[in-house]
Amino acid sequence: MIRPVNPYPVGLDLEGRRVVVIGGGSVAQRRVPVLLASGAAVHLISPEITPTLQGLVDSGRIWWQAREYHTGDLEGAWYVVAATKDSLVNARVAAEAEQLRTFCVRSDAVTSGSAVTPAVVRRGEMLVAVLTGDRARTAEARDVVARALVEADAEAPGTDEKLRGTVALVGGGPGADDLMTVRGRRLLASADVVVADRLAPQRPLAELRADVEIVDAAKIPYGRAMAQEAINEVLVDRARQGKFVVRLKGGDSFLYGRGYEEAQACAAEGIPCTVVPGVSSALAVPALAGIPVTNRGMTHEATIVSGHLPPGHPDSLVNWDALARMNGTLVILMGVKNTPAIARCLVEGGRDADTPAAVIMDGSLDGQQTHRGTLGTLDALLVEHDVRPPAIVVVGDVAGLPEVLAVV
Ligand SMILES: C[S@@+](CC[C@H](N)C(=O)[O-])C[C@H]1O[C@@H](n2cnc3c(N)ncnc32)[C@H](O)[C@@H]1O
Repeated sequence: MIRPVNPYPVGLDLEGRRVVVIGGGSVAQRRVPVLLASGAAVHLISPEITPTLQGLVDSGRIWWQAREYHTGDLEGAWYVVAATKDSLVNARVAAEAEQLRTFCVRSDAVTSGSAVTPAVVRRGEMLVAVLTGDRARTAEARDVVARALVEADAEAPGTDEKLRGTVALVGGGPGADDLMTVRGRRLLASADVVVADRLAPQRPLAELRADVEIVDAAKIPYGRAMAQEAINEVLVDRARQGKFVVRLKGGDSFLYGRGYEEAQACAAEGIPCTVVPGVSSALAVPALAGIPVTNRGMTHEATIVSGHLPPGHPDSLVNWDALARMNGTLVILMGVKNTPAIARCLVEGGRDADTPAAVIMDGSLDGQQTHRGTLGTLDALLVEHDVRPPAIVVVGDVAGLPEVLAVV
């Protein structure tokens, strides 16, 4: 048996190739998604599997045989993972793989397989694989490398060629830089141009390369064009120059974000446009204030509504009377100015004035504030605490739940 104490590092192209995983417990659960991400055709053999693996079976992403391992199962495999809890079985798997000259990782006895799985650090397109003689030191070494990359601000070199001449609408989350998605951060790091909103997370902008053009969407001169048209023009213009453009917004681009209009503008000019969903303030800000927008046995619906126009405004598309008759949670965005009129309309429409309500200002940012009251006292609450945008109003029983979150 080969003992990979001195392994030769290599990147395997597993796209479409058969990989056999023996065992269906927590180790297999960790390994299988990574194998799938590499395009492997995964064949799992185990009498039982975890619910997560079952989900992959149900969605047709892996093939499962619900039985013990038999000699012969590895026929035609390019790569084998022996991940049962029984080291005798793992040893038999490794022995068969050895005979077939197929590389095999043993989860229980790393040096008894013919391959070892490295610990990995990802930075954009760059993948750093770390190997040492034993597993505990490998994880430690990986953390050392990860820290060093962060300290050195190291990113994968250059913009991915496929991104040139395209636009990505990136939802930046509610404001805290670490509530932005990993994909969003990755694309941001590759951008040549970033067109950013005021509510987008600001710190990641400061970390961009010096040559990246940062366009403040609020300051784009728009002359005779509407502000949105002017933004669309910038996106199309820079993409036409062959640049990779990230349109960075607060929350999610498709929730009161006009992202679809921007995607349409790109499509009309033949510019490929993709979207990276963001963590929307509509859910994240109440959550950060300790308010779940639904709660079992209490609230079975949550409605997100814009309060930028007051009830009765001729341009309003909201059926406030219908909302007043509902029992569930109302999450009102852009509603600070119109909250008094909205609260009045909801009470007149039948919602109890004693319904709990809360307003959360600057969610996820330094100085986040939460003020609780009722629908009837919302008006006074806003004045008393000098509530200013960005803020979210939550109306419903969930706003009256006891606070159980730890302050971190
Ligand atoms: C134009 S909407 C954009 C919403 C965004 N696309 C999203 O998904 O979160 C702006 C409104 O979102 C809410 N909002 C966004 N970020 C917030 C934050 N950090 N704290 C409180 N409210 C926020 C406020 O109601 C604000 O007026």
